[in-house]
Parts: sequence; structure tokens; C-alpha cells
Amino acid sequence: MTAVCPGSFDPITLGHLDIIERSTYIYDRVVVGIADNPSKAELFSLEERLDFTKEALKNLAKVEVLVFRSLLVEFAQEHGAKVIIKGLRAISDFEHEFQMAHLNKRLDNTIETVFLMASPECMFLSSSAVKEIAAYGGNISEFVPSGVEARLADKFLKD
Ligand code: PNS
Repeated sequence: MTAVCPGSFDPITLGHLDIIERSTYIYDRVVVGIADNPSKAELFSLEERLDFTKEALKNLAKVEVLVFRSLLVEFAQEHGAKVIIKGLRAISDFEHEFQMAHLNKRLDNTIETVFLMASPECMFLSSSAVKEIAAYGGNISEFVPSGVEARLADKFLKD
């Protein structure tokens, strides 16, 4: 069975990695979809996000990393996925995720959203928090794959 795991991955964190890796214990194939959303102001370009996300996931044999520009349910349909995987951290994620899961179900009621609870050490980890810490020169090595740490350092040293 195929699952899709969507996100902005700006940048990928160890929290994303935790959810994606655990998805591979359940599903035969996990298609990670990087959303190309021109209306969202991302720190990293699509090419950069694709590059470091692929690098971070290269040891997970069941995982493919692709870009999508469509509705998420269309991306799932294209790849024969009947499951959308989302990670849930604190309760604050719930309302937004609950709304998206219901809307996606309205768009295609054959596709289910499955939530995996974030592992305790990732419970308060987010891409935006990581970017903020990095912007102030803080240590993010415990939060992101090493490739991403280097990219963030580059980004903020240059700016
Ligand atoms: O990592 P993010 O930013 O929380 O990911 C959000 C994402 C990419 C999952 C969401 O924006 C999305 O599904 N985008 C695709 C467009 C779409 O299908 N929108 C309707 C969902 S209700």
C-alpha cells in the first residue's frame, strides 16, 4: 500500500524524518510530496528543498521524494495512494489538521488521512522554530539533518 506524506519541508527537520521513517514500517511505499506553493514565502527554493530532502531520506529504500503543484488529493491519486500521512505534535496542530483532513475527504472520500503522533523528542520541533534559532546563530544540530544544518548556516551567514 502506498501513502503520501506532504509538506513544505522548509526545511526538513528530524521531526519530519521521524514521521516518514515510521510510515515506512507501516506502508510499502511512501511518496514524500514537497508542495510548490508560490503564495507561500519560503526560505529555501524548491530546488534546495528537493535537494536536501532527498539527501536526508536517501537511506530509506521505500521513500520517493517528489514535488507537487496540485491539490494534495490529486497528487495522492496520481501515485495510487489511498492514505495521506500527517504528523501531529501538540494540540495546537489539531484544529488546522482536522480541517484539512475533512476538506481532503470532501474532495476525495476514498483517501484517508492517517495521523502519527510525533515522538516526544520532536513534540515541539517545527521548521519555523528551527529557522528562527538558526537566524540568531543558535545550535540546531539536534533538530535537523546535518545537510540542512550546513544549508541554514550558509543562508544566514550570507544574509
Ligand atoms: O508543511 P506544511 O506547510 O504544513 O504543509 C502544508 C501542505 C503542503 C500539506 C498543504 O498546504 C497542502 O496540502 N497543500 C496542497 C494544496 C491543497 O490540497 N490544499 C487543500 C488542502 S485542504
